Amino acid sequence: MSDDRARELAELAAQAAVCTRCPLAETRTRVVFGAGDPDAGLMLVGEAPGYHEDQQGEPFVGAAGKLLDRLLGDIGFRRSQVYIANVLKCRPPNNRDPLQLEIDACSEYLRRQLTLVDPKVVLTLGNFATRLLLKRDVGISRLRGQVYPWWNRYLVPTLHPAAVLRGGDGLMEQVRADFALAGRALTEVTRVADPAAEQLGLFE
Ligand code: URA
Repeated sequence: MSDDRARELAELAAQAAVCTRCPLAETRTRVVFGAGDPDAGLMLVGEAPGYHEDQQGEPFVGAAGKLLDRLLGDIGFRRSQVYIANVLKCRPPNNRDPLQLEIDACSEYLRRQLTLVDPKVVLTLGNFATRLLLKRDVGISRLRGQVYPWWNRYLVPTLHPAAVLRGGDGLMEQVRADFALAGRALTEVTRVADPAAEQLGLFE
């Protein structure tokens, strides 16, 4: 990462740390901006901080995070080798679903993170991240299992680890298969060159 981009990412984190763009600013303990390698080829996007993340200021440090570490380990990555962010940077009270106004207020941070980290592959965890980025109003169980070319990158949608922990037949196999797909996309697929897409912006 160039010094300029590293500085911009640090400035963005500092802005987010004092953000008051939505009412979650009043109930959060800490802003959970994102963590990991800012030069990572693989970026994971979750939904929103939960209780432990809100306390510690780090993404995926609770039970879902332990599963995430295992899934990453299975494809040969440590958490420090990827970049992890969420759609919302602040915890919704009682871990309720994100509201549209919160997503709208917060998505500029994620858009900037994606541009600055510039990963080759984005792995979206669950419905909220997948819907926001892929812009399809279709449930995750129908979208998962494939690699989508997406704004000069590849997007691999998968189930949220918390949903896998809640259980259901075959969910673990599905999420494992999707992580393997993301790993293969990183090593086997040539990057799509589409500079015009970058200029249009990620969320149009
Ligand atoms: N679930 C998420 O989506 N993100 C976190 O950071 C933790 C749990």
